[in-house]
Amino acid sequence: MTARSASVQAQGKINLFLRIVAHESSGYHQLETLFARIDLADSITVHTDTSVRELNVVGADTGHPALNLATRAVTAFAESCGWPRGFKIDIEKRIPVGGGLGGGSADAGAVLRALNALAPNPFPQDELLRIAFTLGADVPFLTTESPLSLAWGRGERMLALPALPARELLLCLPPFGVSTAEAFGWVSGVRHSAASVELARLADWAGVKTLVYNDFQAIVGAIHPEIWEALNLLNEAGADIAMMTGSGSTVFGVFESGIKPEVTSMGFPKAMRLVRSMTADSVSPVKLLD
Ligand code: C5P
Repeated sequence: MTARSASVQAQGKINLFLRIVAHESSGYHQLETLFARIDLADSITVHTDTSVRELNVVGADTGHPALNLATRAVTAFAESCGWPRGFKIDIEKRIPVGGGLGGGSADAGAVLRALNALAPNPFPQDELLRIAFTLGADVPFLTTESPLSLAWGRGERMLALPALPARELLLCLPPFGVSTAEAFGWVSGVRHSAASVELARLADWAGVKTLVYNDFQAIVGAIHPEIWEALNLLNEAGADIAMMTGSGSTVFGVFESGIKPEVTSMGFPKAMRLVRSMTADSVSPVKLLD
């Protein structure tokens, strides 16, 4: 019998570099970015044996409109194949939304993967990624089973890379989020010549360290000085990489030799929440339930 329910850990992401390559005449921006999955994840269960349509969210940020991305993911999937007619999605949220960690997009990607695993006629991967792209720039990567990918365009062109070893990660979550649309507005004057990345440099953390950069960091940091405070403290704490992810607001540190316990008493801005996690060396599989 075909399974009707599936569960999946919807891991978030960080951007290890992010360059705005061009401002298209459509108003959108062409990017070049290195996406990495992280262990911090929302737990998602999708049930398809129902005639109603229901989304239940518990945990952090439950009222955030970006959570509709999970419902929009099912709607987009159903519009493409006429299935499922009914669904129930339960989400236990841990990834903050609006923080540059893919809090809404990870749920959409996980829902697409779960539905495709349950579908009587699954989509080929390229078709699933086409649906993902209609939901936002971060969703295609978070629909793949790759822990590390280079991405171009608006996130729809991707090259999956061999995983890097898992490293300790300290996430510094400011009490505010940054709207992606607003952040792109702030950088609309930025132009870079097309950057090209030597793939050999993405084979290990030492090489990645030479490439880390985020076009949004200086601009968002100018508006929110807490971003710089956190970056300075992460460097002081011995982080091998310290930078902002996506269009903010989260700042992260990657530690090769582990995070020292003293880090919590180093004077990070009071309202900033510190969350320990790991970078991920694999993507959690979809589990079929019944
Ligand atoms: O992809 P997402 O829906 O999160 O993007 C939100 C907004 O950010 C878009 O409506 C657009 O204004 C801006 N954006 C952009 N270039 C991109 C991605 C997003 O200008 N590559």
